[in-house]
Amino acid sequence: MSATETSPLAGKSFLKLKDFTGEEINYLIDLAADLKEKKKVGIPHRYMEGQNVALLFEKPSTRTRCAFTVACVDLGAHPEYLGKNDIQFGKKESIRDTAIVLGRMFDGIEFRGFDQSTVEALSEYSGVPVWNGLTNEFHPTQILADFLTIKENIGHLKGVTLVYVGDGRNNMGNSLLIGGAKVGMDIRICSPEQLLPSDEIVNYAKKIAKETDAKVMVTSNIDQAVSGADVLYTDVWVSMGEEDKFKERIELLLPYQVNREMLNKTGNENVMFLHCLPSFHDLETQVGREVYEKFGLTEMEVTDEVFQSENSFVFDEAENRLHTIKAVMAATNGKF
Ligand code: CP
Ligand code: NVA
Repeated sequence: MSATETSPLAGKSFLKLKDFTGEEINYLIDLAADLKEKKKVGIPHRYMEGQNVALLFEKPSTRTRCAFTVACVDLGAHPEYLGKNDIQFGKKESIRDTAIVLGRMFDGIEFRGFDQSTVEALSEYSGVPVWNGLTNEFHPTQILADFLTIKENIGHLKGVTLVYVGDGRNNMGNSLLIGGAKVGMDIRICSPEQLLPSDEIVNYAKKIAKETDAKVMVTSNIDQAVSGADVLYTDVWVSMGEEDKFKERIELLLPYQVNREMLNKTGNENVMFLHCLPSFHDLETQVGREVYEKFGLTEMEVTDEVFQSENSFVFDEAENRLHTIKAVMAATNGKF
């Protein structure tokens, strides 16, 4: 890509995958691969020189915050981190008024928090590109990193069988289902009945699948779901903001733990294991130890053996957050 190319996504916000076509998603992934290579060989790519970016975080983050910060610096922009206690934001000033003010000062805004409606309102009122760094409903930048990691290893996305096992109605289940349908995957969500994605999201994915030749399976049957998987994906059983739910989730999700037996059931010895992270795969965390004391589990959504195995690409996936977030910022900002 040349330095004078104008992005087809210039001026657009990145709020949810519903707003993008499969071609646009692939475009962002390929741009990310290009920017990853540029960084590796030391070719400058300061496409946002002199610009300022607001990073709003209502919820904690390691990867997303660091990826946005480093991406800003690599692109020549200044990142300004604003945590939940740093600005009024809905407490003493409406989201609309805050959005207008931020839009007068910043060239782009990242938001991580609870309600999807907040990130949508920021986009509506700020007049600058807004990027969703995770809401209760969606985690769209994560999907770009996941798909780049798959493309790097399998070579393409269309027809790839990706099985997400776990809490199917959380931000990751929703986003993988929609993203998989958009790019023409064989996308399968495998969860207990109580945690299946909503009818609205499943019906939307099925409608998209008709246009893209994707396949959509939503089931509680593990054997049926994982058979023939190219990629096995899981996420935490308890998402940020629902920390009182460990007991019920452990009861529901223990049979859905990704372990060696489940990998064997795929029939694919090279099946890729992915996880957005952070993950409870050992007792090296405070929360992991608390869960062990209360419920006796030493690992939750994935065993340490699988997490550390050759099937696991989780740290490539984490690194790819940087390159894909950089691509989203550069592409929606305009020229690169
Ligand atoms: N995967 C992900 O979003 O990680 P963080 O919560 O650390 O940003
Ligand atoms: N579902 C998880 C994803 C973390 C990246 C959460 O929302 O906490």
